[in-house]
Amino acid sequence: MEYLKFCFVFSFWMKFANSLYPSESPQTPAPIPKEKLLVLTVATEETDGFRRFMQSAKYFNYNVKVLGMGEAWRGGDVGRSIGGGQKVRLLKEAMEGLADQEDLIVLSVDSYDLIFAGGPEEILRKFQQANNKVIFAAEGLIWPDKRLADKYPSIRSGKRYLNSGGIIGYAPYINRIVSQWSLHDNDDDQLFYTKIYLDPLQRQTLNMTLDHKCQIFQNLNGAVDEVLLKFGTDRVRVRNTAYDSLPVVVHGNGNTKMYLNYLANYVPNAWNYEHGCSHCDDDLVDLSQLKEYPNVLVGVFIEQPTPFLPEFFQRLLTLDYPKDKLKVFVHNNEVYHEKHIQKFWEENRNAFSSFKVVGPEENLSQGEARNMGMDLCRKDAACDYYFSMDSDVMLTNRQTLKLLIEQNRKIIGPLVTRHGKLWSNFWGALSLDGYYARSEDYVDIVQRKRVGVWNIPYMAHIYLVKGSALRNELKERNYFVLEKLDPDMALCRNAREMGVFMYITNRHDFGRLISTANYNISHYNNDLWQIFENPVDWKEKYIHQNYTQIFTENYLEEPCPDVFWFPVFTEKACDEIVEEMEHYGSWSGGKHEDKRISGGYETVPTDDIHMKQIGFDKEWLHFIREFISPVTLKVFSGYYTKGYAVMNFVVKYTPERQAYLRPHHDSSTFTINIALNNKDRDFQGGGCRFHRYNCSIESPRKGWSFMHPGRLTHLHEGLPTTNGTRYIAVSFIDP
Ligand SMILES: *[C@@H]1O[C@H](CO)[C@@H](O)[C@H](O)[C@H]1NC(C)=O
Ligand SMILES: *[C@@H]1O[C@H](CO)[C@@H](O)[C@H](O)[C@H]1NC(C)=O
Ligand SMILES: *[C@@H]1O[C@H](CO)[C@@H](O)[C@H](O)[C@H]1NC(C)=O
Ligand SMILES: *[C@@H]1O[C@H](CO)[C@@H](O)[C@H](O)[C@H]1NC(C)=O
Ligand SMILES: *[C@@H]1O[C@H](CO)[C@@H](O)[C@H](O)[C@H]1NC(C)=O
Ligand SMILES: *[C@@H]1O[C@H](CO)[C@@H](O)[C@H](O)[C@H]1NC(C)=O
Repeated sequence: MEYLKFCFVFSFWMKFANSLYPSESPQTPAPIPKEKLLVLTVATEETDGFRRFMQSAKYFNYNVKVLGMGEAWRGGDVGRSIGGGQKVRLLKEAMEGLADQEDLIVLSVDSYDLIFAGGPEEILRKFQQANNKVIFAAEGLIWPDKRLADKYPSIRSGKRYLNSGGIIGYAPYINRIVSQWSLHDNDDDQLFYTKIYLDPLQRQTLNMTLDHKCQIFQNLNGAVDEVLLKFGTDRVRVRNTAYDSLPVVVHGNGNTKMYLNYLANYVPNAWNYEHGCSHCDDDLVDLSQLKEYPNVLVGVFIEQPTPFLPEFFQRLLTLDYPKDKLKVFVHNNEVYHEKHIQKFWEENRNAFSSFKVVGPEENLSQGEARNMGMDLCRKDAACDYYFSMDSDVMLTNRQTLKLLIEQNRKIIGPLVTRHGKLWSNFWGALSLDGYYARSEDYVDIVQRKRVGVWNIPYMAHIYLVKGSALRNELKERNYFVLEKLDPDMALCRNAREMGVFMYITNRHDFGRLISTANYNISHYNNDLWQIFENPVDWKEKYIHQNYTQIFTENYLEEPCPDVFWFPVFTEKACDEIVEEMEHYGSWSGGKHEDKRISGGYETVPTDDIHMKQIGFDKEWLHFIREFISPVTLKVFSGYYTKGYAVMNFVVKYTPERQAYLRPHHDSSTFTINIALNNKDRDFQGGGCRFHRYNCSIESPRKGWSFMHPGRLTHLHEGLPTTNGTRYIAVSFIDP
């Protein structure tokens, strides 16, 4: 109670005190009106970085004047060596007309690698508090001449050395500095400013200082570990934890461009927890407003044996995009896949505007093949987009291509991830040697807890590149071959060096990356073996469309007492299992002597092949546990199966060899019996009869399974197949 009262009195007193000492008091000069601040920046091209700078300036209503736009850049390669003199020359020319405006404050900043994190009022307040005529940005690393280190005034803490990426000062003073410029465009701007600053006389007369504690300017070089994102309700800032400051200008100098890209995914208002992504809908391409859809060259890269390749091509075929606007270039490096491509080509070659395949006989390296694909678009002025897809990308979203085009970026990829894993097609950060490093937000982006369009340093597997970018910023060829880098790493490094931003979008679910590891191609239908490595794709390809309805809508039948009948396999699963067995070919012949079983004698022999004989027993048991056990639990309530079975086999009935099976019990708690082909189409006759109930099922359905108790109650027989060949897959479960 006492405390509350005190607070009330205290806050009242504070209000009173403030009105006694208004801000016009001599201690606190009137704030400089924001109209007095002019931002000058040099940019000869509208790079992605420049556009981002302007966007942040616009957000805070900065008054920006751009110098040198359209001029050829002669300032050298500032990223890697000295240079930048052209910037001083342009600033000098601009200042000539501003020098007499005594109360004008000029803020000269870089723009390709710099953003604003705060507004003009704040920068002016901090400038005013510092009480100098000119303030340069500071950094902890000295550049370009290390020998000058001793000449710097010593400081107790903070950044000691000048960085010329940010300068703020009164116009006449800035003018007095830059008017001293008489060097070449490719001389070094930072060295020029450094020498002036290090001259004690000039430092005093021009009243210059450095922003040692990053109140205004944050240079990231050497300081990445000092800064953090600080999320507010509307805005996101960068906090310098070393000086507990909130810098207004954030500069990705040196090799910190990628880190700036990361920060700028949030700062100043790109993304936050309250409103998500703010710029995701800026500058969208409205495809419905275009007279014609853009022309897209799809580059498909099959660089290793890849499971589910026919399904990959089907998804390409069913993309929601006019096929006459798609040209397809396929690089296939695998002899194994030639049959799949041949089949697709025969059935669909006329579906696309063109379909070109470069096969393994060309012996192209991956980098060469990728260069070739990209070049096909680059050289064709009518190619609006290049869409590169690796064969391990399962695009489940048919809208993907349209969604990427709409996003209107030079390079953008859809997020695809390995099912249930944190593995994806992008990296949020790079290590110093250029390999993977985890960014703070990587997991949230992969898991779509943060949704947006993200500027990232590396992507692979699938991306869309604008044809116009290929003919301008990225016009050099051979981007996929660089030193010893992987082709994708080479492309990304080239794009980064050309200042082209790469984005990944996770605004939608686009699809997944399949695993190509452990893909054994020594079987006939190798995808059957992928139940462990790629369970989602396996299920999609092999498990019946209506299987899940067994549980949701009781989608199953009971044709005889305790004999349950339900859909489990797709037609494809049935066909591939039969093909696999016929490919193996060693049918047992239905003899009583059987070396494959313990005891070596089978009382009721069938003409069959065991799953184990084709090396499919582990996979088959896994199938039983995943897809049969849940049905058991449903129909034999209270019975928990161990899902264990020794006898798993495919039976072949044909009038020529074995047409039927006499009445018998199974050595199982329950038995499954899956029909692998179609009555009347593939054979006549067939079916199953349960004696106790005098109940027969004479029209088995392909892909459907019977499940019935194996012993005592369910004496049963296989009815004669009168024509053709009938195949069933059988397991004796819980023997
Ligand atoms: C700059 O000028 C202010 C007064 O205008 C003075 O207080 C300050 O010491 C000067 N700083 C330098 C480095 O000369
Ligand atoms: C394929 O290219 C590689 C390296 O480019 C070479 O070593 C190899 O001999 C070539 N193979 C054939 C069959 O031409
Ligand atoms: C691939 O499958 C074949 C046939 O089942 C088998 O002999 C071989 O050991 C398998 N290879 C690998 C690497 O698992
Ligand atoms: C799945 O069930 C629906 C009706 O519920 C049916 O139209 C469809 O053909 C079934 N799918 C298959 C593959 O049998
Ligand atoms: C079994 O059922 C059939 C008709 O479905 C009938 O003709 C036959 O008599 C029955 N047999 C016995 C033993 O009930
Ligand atoms: C057996 O099947 C074949 C085709 O599968 C057909 O041509 C023939 O007429 C059938 N025979 C009988 C007796 O139904």
